[in-house]
Amino acid sequence: MTKTLKEHLEKVDNELASLILKISELANMISSELPYRRGKADTKNVFGEVQLIADKWADQFIIDELRKSGLVKTLVSEEQPEIVKLDEKGIFNITLDPLDGSSNIESNNLVGTIIGIYKKDLPTPGKNLVAAMYILYGPVTTLVYATQGNVSEFINTKKGFVLREENIKLPEPGKLYSIGGLRKEWVPSFKKYVEELEAQGYKLRYGGSFVGDTNQILHYGGIFAYPELTTKPNGKLRLLVESNTMSFIIKQAGGASTNGKCSVLEIEPKNITQRVPTYIGNKNLIEKLEKILIKEK
Ligand code: AHG
Ligand code: MN
Ligand code: MN
Repeated sequence: MTKTLKEHLEKVDNELASLILKISELANMISSELPYRRGKADTKNVFGEVQLIADKWADQFIIDELRKSGLVKTLVSEEQPEIVKLDEKGIFNITLDPLDGSSNIESNNLVGTIIGIYKKDLPTPGKNLVAAMYILYGPVTTLVYATQGNVSEFINTKKGFVLREENIKLPEPGKLYSIGGLRKEWVPSFKKYVEELEAQGYKLRYGGSFVGDTNQILHYGGIFAYPELTTKPNGKLRLLVESNTMSFIIKQAGGASTNGKCSVLEIEPKNITQRVPTYIGNKNLIEKLEKILIKEK
């Protein structure tokens, strides 16, 4: 019999189960509202990026609903300049990318929502994540959540989110490489590493949505990177709201992450807007890459 998300969450603490369930309901709403929330807003976020109506709407919607839930103490969002206080009695602290891949909205390609769940106060290293999840608004809406040692995926159906697969592990060997940033701005050692992957038969598949690109690594194996660039030494992705969350999920699926020197999850954040070169995927690929990048420094 198909297991619902609610049934699957019987394994985890009550409060964590309630939070994940709540987020799944919000995701359902976001997915059905996306057709009506199109176009640009007249504002920029703290990263200087033009916000879309959908970015701002999803952000405010999630914040308001999580405040009502009473489960969340504070929240760090890509769309908010400071830590948002929600409910003093809440036991979780959340990191949020309300709408990831927003440049894909215009062309109707993949977008998602990324959520990290902590008990420690933010900012804190990603290794302190209690759970991490993302929702992918694709041809079907899927939800992936990870707790220590387990990654499970659910599909949104008429009966709500139902289990598709549990205990997901990255396939070995991996098949894909998925890399952001202009190739001419990759550092020489990284360029060489990618050429080796190509020679070994890894196929390029980059979609411009961290959620979509991570999800394909989870299912087909390989490596995703938004690397150090000659013009942007810290790459593009945000440590708190993006890289930590995905690094945790990939780690629980048997993979690994690096910023070029150490696991992304080990980085001590200096502030909530920090960016980090991000490389995630099969352990052997990440270990080899890390050695090359350290040596060439
Ligand atoms: P967001 O839409 O939340 O700002 O995130 C965009 C991120 C991420 O989704 C993706 O990996 C990357 O930026 C895409 O960047 P490029 O457009 O440079 O490929
Ligand atoms: Mn994003
Ligand atoms: Mn975003």
